[in-house]
Amino acid sequence: MRAVRTFCFFCSLLAVAGSLFAAADCAEDLRDLTQFVVRPVSLGDLAELLIVENEAWQELAATAGKLISRTEIFPEGQLLAMDSTQKVVGFLNTQRLKEQRIYESLESHTGDSDHWGVLSGDGFISSSHDPQGDVLFMINLTTRISKDGQSRRRNIGAVLVQSAIDFARKMNVSKIYGLTRLNGFRGFMREHPAADIHEYIRSVINGRWRDPALSFHLKQGARFLTPVFNSMKDDIESHTWGALICYDLTNSVSGR
Ligand SMILES: CC(C)(COP(=O)(O)OP(=O)(O)OC[C@H]1O[C@@H](n2cnc3c(N)ncnc32)[C@H](O)[C@@H]1OP(=O)(O)O)[C@@H](O)C(=O)NCCC(=O)NCCS
Repeated sequence: MRAVRTFCFFCSLLAVAGSLFAAADCAEDLRDLTQFVVRPVSLGDLAELLIVENEAWQELAATAGKLISRTEIFPEGQLLAMDSTQKVVGFLNTQRLKEQRIYESLESHTGDSDHWGVLSGDGFISSSHDPQGDVLFMINLTTRISKDGQSRRRNIGAVLVQSAIDFARKMNVSKIYGLTRLNGFRGFMREHPAADIHEYIRSVINGRWRDPALSFHLKQGARFLTPVFNSMKDDIESHTWGALICYDLTNSVSGR
């Protein structure tokens, strides 16, 4: 039984890898995928994923147990990017959900947990991933800071989002949702103490202020839907606010 499960696991990984590489050849995807290779995550990648995760999220970082659980429960929905030296430079975690569940959860939940925690099964996806779900839900996107420690912005995030879009299309899923953080909000409030979240969002959408996460997703073609309070309760830079975003694949979503 165990051998069969292992075999199936590797078959699904190979199938997704095949589809991703095939998608990379498609004329419709004009992004430069030569610099980074995207492939499904396997449990052997755990140590490198943890380095990327801890470096980016620090005290908010997912534990090894959460990263393992995501890979075991929905292996084909976990993607990583490698550079030419085979080093892991970023990764993206997804799960499937019923679209209606996202809205119901955001409207009704008032408990101790934050919204991201409820929608992601506290990051384990064991209680949240729904194989019959009609949409993909991005629960984490993290890229590595360049070697000189200066910055990200090496196109890794864009390549990962494009790969998730290709993956969703292969599954006949037409929407990818995310509950993104708003980690430029704290800095904005320091400069504009009388402002509120709505003014912040307007400033980001109009391009007057750059939010590291939301500006990135807007550039990739996501639509901003609504601000969410108590999105990630320990995310101080966001003052716990987040934004529900959606990549609608029935429209063109290429931001570049
Ligand atoms: C958000 C994140 C995934 C973006 O990945 P990335 O590899 O840096 O993004 P890319 O290089 O593909 O950026 C593509 C575009 O997004 C926008 N962007 C990226 N980083 C940005 C930033 N810090 N501020 C504003 N816009 C940004 C830019 O428009 C950029 O295009 P440009 O360089 O031509 O201006 C990355 O910064 C990260 O891992 N952050 C820490 C973890 C995190 O907060 N994740 C939350 C994601 S919801």
